Amino acid sequence: MNTSPEFNGKGSRVGADSSSAGPEPEATILVVDDEPELSRALSKLLSRNGYHVLTAGNGEEGLAILRRQEIHLVLSDLQMPKMGGLDLLKAAQVIAPNTEFVIITGHGTIETAVDAMRTGAYDFIEKPFSITTTLKVVRKALEKQHLIAENRDLRKRLEEIQGVNEIIGNSEPMRQAIDTARQVAASSATILLTGESGTGKEVFATAIHGWSDRSKQTMVRVSCAALPENLLEAELFGYEKGAFTGAVARRRGRFEMANRGTLLLDEVGGMSMTTQVKLLRVLQENVIERLGGSEPIHVDVRIIAATNSDLPTMVSEGRFREDLFYRLNVINLELPSLRSRGEDVVLLSNFFLQKYNEKNSKQLAGFTPGAVEVMAKYAWPGNVRELENAVERAVVLSKDTLVDVDVLPNSVVRGRQRSDTVNIPVGTTLRDAEMQLIQATLDSTAGDKETAANILGIASRTIYRKMQ
Ligand SMILES: Nc1ncnc2c1ncn2[C@@H]1O[C@H](COP(=O)(O)OP(=O)(O)OP(=O)(O)O)[C@@H](O)[C@H]1O
Ligand SMILES: [Mg+2]
Repeated sequence: MNTSPEFNGKGSRVGADSSSAGPEPEATILVVDDEPELSRALSKLLSRNGYHVLTAGNGEEGLAILRRQEIHLVLSDLQMPKMGGLDLLKAAQVIAPNTEFVIITGHGTIETAVDAMRTGAYDFIEKPFSITTTLKVVRKALEKQHLIAENRDLRKRLEEIQGVNEIIGNSEPMRQAIDTARQVAASSATILLTGESGTGKEVFATAIHGWSDRSKQTMVRVSCAALPENLLEAELFGYEKGAFTGAVARRRGRFEMANRGTLLLDEVGGMSMTTQVKLLRVLQENVIERLGGSEPIHVDVRIIAATNSDLPTMVSEGRFREDLFYRLNVINLELPSLRSRGEDVVLLSNFFLQKYNEKNSKQLAGFTPGAVEVMAKYAWPGNVRELENAVERAVVLSKDTLVDVDVLPNSVVRGRQRSDTVNIPVGTTLRDAEMQLIQATLDSTAGDKETAANILGIASRTIYRKMQ
């Protein structure tokens, strides 16, 4: 085995690497080499640079150390008698999967080094090696090890949270929303879920149904905005044969299907005034009639309504019945926007990373600090749905181990940022300036209009009116 003239094993040129930003604190490195001189020189270099270093004279000894204690990085010679570097790497992947590997190779063994990389080594250093290169590779390998470990911790925390329910979120507004949802789940009270598009209204509706004692029955969902009036009524209440052209057989409606279970009236703001009247009657009497039928059918259904429209404003404008609004709004659960709970961005993006890793048979380990920063700063107007789509896209496009900025959508990298200040250029109309301030204040209060109104020194009614 040849020792490089630069790296002569006597430590004459061994010194601190000036380009280094300093080692990972408390990083432990294991040097495995059958040549004591080289091993000694390497460990001297590394300890002088602040790393904690252990040495092993062969593969078996290295493995024993890996079994015994936590090692962040192994620098292993490739060719050693009995257990070679590649075998050690394979064994280490089983007993110490959190440890990074860098292979040391002699001249002419590049092919085997490539094999090692394919097996999962982070990099290789070719002998004779330079101090700068060695320290650079070590630093980078440790950085990766650190990031992956951090991501693994996050995922673990995520699984702990997930174990409790399927709703991901650990921010204060989210915890409050989950608490309330759990509390009200047990009763049969009608719940109105409000919040911007993509905040998880359907997710909450599903969870509430799951926590309720109706969970053994089905939850039926109907989107009230997707269908024209007569079709929606046919969907909701069902019809008798011959009720209208095309009604060739009797059909049960969603209310009947949801009997003893839960009915999610999604996008309830999209319902016509006529259907609203009929719905109100059903809610008051717990009785439906199929279209074209005359037999009253008793139903026992728990109603969850969801909307991203501003129902109070719609009421004041005569587009939504006030009596129906009060009937639905027995318990209101307002879901916070994603930008008002920035800390959940990391949690959710890791959750979706796992989801789409599995779906696409990929093994992305996490996000680069750059990508995390971009995602944390973005305002996410499409909330969790937009984040989920962005992560799915990134997983599909990513070729590295970590998701980087280049695979994030342009809209996220350059889009509207969340902020605590409003930047209003000269030339803005007073009206627009006012809107921007109201919007930013609402963002900072997680959409709580009362608090926002207090901060702005106006009545909450005024906020509703101005947001029109
Ligand atoms: N807290 C959460 N944890 C995990 N996934 C979530 C969460 N919130 C939302 N999602 C996911 O984001 C997407 C959008 O959620 P959902 O459909 O519930 O939003 P919504 O509020 O009903 O939106 P819209 O008003 O547009 O119908 C779904 O794919 C959902 O699984
Ligand atoms: Mg929805």
